[in-house]
Amino acid sequence: MPWTAADIPDQSGRVAVVTGANGGLGLEVARELAGKGALVVMAARDQAKAAAARETVASQVPGAALELQPLDLASLASVRQAAAAILAGHPRVDILVNNAGLMAIDERRTEDGFEMQLGVNHLGHFALSGLLLPALLASDGARVVSVTSTGRHFGRPIDPANPNLEGHYDPWRAYGQSKLADLHFALELDRRFRTAATPARSIVVHPGFASTDLQARSARESGGRSQRFFHAMVRRVGMTPAQGALPLLRAATDPRAAGGALYTPRWVNWGPPVRRPLVGRSRSREAMTTLWEFSERETGIGFDLTARA
Ligand SMILES: NC(=O)c1ccc[n+]([C@@H]2O[C@H](COP(=O)([O-])OP(=O)(O)OC[C@H]3O[C@@H](n4cnc5c(N)ncnc54)[C@H](OP(=O)(O)O)[C@@H]3O)[C@@H](O)[C@H]2O)c1
Repeated sequence: MPWTAADIPDQSGRVAVVTGANGGLGLEVARELAGKGALVVMAARDQAKAAAARETVASQVPGAALELQPLDLASLASVRQAAAAILAGHPRVDILVNNAGLMAIDERRTEDGFEMQLGVNHLGHFALSGLLLPALLASDGARVVSVTSTGRHFGRPIDPANPNLEGHYDPWRAYGQSKLADLHFALELDRRFRTAATPARSIVVHPGFASTDLQARSARESGGRSQRFFHAMVRRVGMTPAQGALPLLRAATDPRAAGGALYTPRWVNWGPPVRRPLVGRSRSREAMTTLWEFSERETGIGFDLTARA
C-alpha cells in the first residue's frame, strides 16, 4: 500500500518547526502536521506571504496551533534571532523540517557573503539546526528532515578553497553543490546523533518533481532557457505540492523511518514516498567530514551533542 498523508500518526503535543512554510511544499507540510495536532512554527522570510499562509491553514484546520517566525536563511543574524525566539518559546522541538530553498538562480551572495544557494539551502539550515540542537535533544525522539534533489547527482562536494564557485559560477552547478551538501549534512548529522547515543534521527528526502514556486522563481530570477524549460514542464507534468510534500511528511512522522535513510518518490520524480538506497558518492565520508568542518568554520556554529535545553 502506498504511504499517504492518512498514515501520519497523531502529532498532538509535538512541536514542529518548518522552514519555508509560507508556500510550496513547506505550506503543505505545515498544514498536514497541524491537521494531526502538532504545534507548527512556520518559519518564513516573506511575512505577507507567511500571514496569508497561516490564514489558509487556519481556515482549513480548525483550531490549528500555528506560530509565525520570521527567518531569512540568507542572514546568519536572522537565523540566530529566529533560533533564539524559538528556543525561548519552545524548550523542546520534536520535528525540524529544513525545507526552504532556491534553485538555479543567477549569481548572488547572502548577507554574510556566501553564494546564495549554498547559503540558503545548506549553511542557513546548518546554523539553524545547530542552534536548535538543545531543544531537539530535549525531545524523546526528534526528527531533522533535510531536503535534497536530483540535483545531488550532478553536484560536486564542497571545495573549501572555492565554495562560492568564484570564476566558474553556473546556476545549476551551484544548486547541485547545495543539494549534495543537504544530503551529506543529513547523513553526517545522523551519524553524530547515533555516536552520541541520542534518540534523535536525521533523515533526507527528495520531494520529486512538484509544481511549486521553485521553478517559477528560478525562471524569473535567472531568465535562463533551461530554467524556463523546467518551469513549463513542471506545470504540465509535475506532481501537486501535496504529493511532493509526502516524502517530507513520511520522514518527519513515520515511526518506521530510520535515521540516515533517504526517501524519494517511487519513480525518481513521481509517485508515493519510498525508502531508497544511498549509492556512490552520496556515502562519501570524506566529503561529509570536509563539509561539516567547512560549515562549522563559516557559520561559527558547532553542534554540542551533550547540550540540553
Ligand atoms: N518542487 C520541486 O520539484 C522540488 C524538487 C526537488 C527539491 N525541491 C526542494 O524542496 C524545497 C521546497 O521547495 P518548493 O518546491 O516548495 O519551492 P517554493 O514554492 O519556491 O518554496 C521555497 C520556500 O523557500 C523559501 N525561501 C527562499 N529563500 C529563503 C530565505 N532566504 N530564507 C527563508 N526562506 C526562504 C521561500 O520563501 P519566500 O517566498 O519567503 O522567499 C519558500 O517558502 C527546496 O529545498 C527545494 O530545493 C523541490
